[in-house]
Amino acid sequence: MSEKVNVAVIGCGSIANCAHIPAYLKLPDVNIKYFCDIIPERADAAVEKYGCGKAVYDYHEILGDPELEAVSVCTHNDFHSIIAIDFMKAGKHVLSEKPAARILSEALEMQKVAHETGKILNIGVCNRFGTQVNNVKKLIDEGALGEVYHVYASFRAHRSIPGIGGDFTRKAASGGGALIDWGVHYLDLILYCCGEPKPLTASGEAFCKLGKDIKDYVYTSMWAEDTADKNGVYDVDDSVVGIIRTDGPVISFNGAWAQNIGVSETYIDFMGTKGGIRLNYCGDFTYYSTKDGMLTSMQTESRHNNFYDEEIKSFINCVKTGEHNQAYIDYAIETSKIMQAIYDSSESHKEIVIE
Ligand SMILES: NC(=O)c1ccc[n+]([C@@H]2O[C@H](COP(=O)([O-])OP(=O)(O)OC[C@H]3O[C@@H](n4cnc5c(N)ncnc54)[C@H](O)[C@@H]3O)[C@@H](O)[C@H]2O)c1
Repeated sequence: MSEKVNVAVIGCGSIANCAHIPAYLKLPDVNIKYFCDIIPERADAAVEKYGCGKAVYDYHEILGDPELEAVSVCTHNDFHSIIAIDFMKAGKHVLSEKPAARILSEALEMQKVAHETGKILNIGVCNRFGTQVNNVKKLIDEGALGEVYHVYASFRAHRSIPGIGGDFTRKAASGGGALIDWGVHYLDLILYCCGEPKPLTASGEAFCKLGKDIKDYVYTSMWAEDTADKNGVYDVDDSVVGIIRTDGPVISFNGAWAQNIGVSETYIDFMGTKGGIRLNYCGDFTYYSTKDGMLTSMQTESRHNNFYDEEIKSFINCVKTGEHNQAYIDYAIETSKIMQAIYDSSESHKEIVIE
């Protein structure tokens, strides 16, 4: 085994190029051995752009390489479980993008194989590595908020449906829309900051309204626009509301890729008996409390780290040490349970008990 950790990037699209590849390239103890994509030009382009690695177009070809230790799975959601399981069974460690999978049963299978093989299986819950998220967690852990009894998340955008008509908006590929694509980050972040409370029940409604007439959808910018397809499929939630009871705080949320609200609202309110926090998503936070009979508020600003870099550095540390970090599948599985329950609740219009 060489001194450097040999890794492969499976799926060379947006998140691979924005986050995983640049982060690996910054680590002196990592060698990107393969760039893999079923679209050959994407794998070829990565080799050319980054000046390293070999292009492969079918990941099965590299499963048996004894020098390969770890992979990033950066494909769309429909391939997360299949590819992650194949690599773990081949003895490789895996960092697979969020959400863990399209549906809970796929995520549970991933967890089972991770436990059976003893391989690291991390999910791309990048917020767990953010500076301000960890500052909020520290304040909650230290008791600065007292009992945190309710957390409210708003992940509402005016017009931000990603890749409309493509994999993001096709349920068979993605498993869902705004909830599974964005809500996953907010719910995971809340569970992390609140000390991993156990979800007990969930109730929710998911709406497919503003994007379903693909040709009439009006927008100013779009993530993954290169995957959009005007003649494609749109059968996922562009808006979702829900409430989750846990053995800690109640969590409620209002989320949307697109809503007729004018201005996007992306924040989380942590409400406690001694204090509260409004955390702007991927931003800074304000801490509200009282002191000597006065209402106080403390605005915090921080030099934000690059949470993707931290996530990937920590993954490589897990590969080297065998340790589990805060992105291990056992944590991410709880968010999968909640999202499945919200979608099931929306279909049945009933509250769902989470096992
Ligand atoms: N953590 C985050 O903040 C974050 C942000 C954006 C996207 N994501 C996640 O990353 C994943 C990919 O999103 P994206 O925007 O990069 O999509 P994308 O479509 O830009 O890239 C996916 C790539 O995977 C390739 N691919 C598909 N099936 C493959 C297979 N079997 N083998 C090899 N390559 C395959 C596609 O050809 C494509 O190039 C999604 O699951 C998404 O939820 C995470």
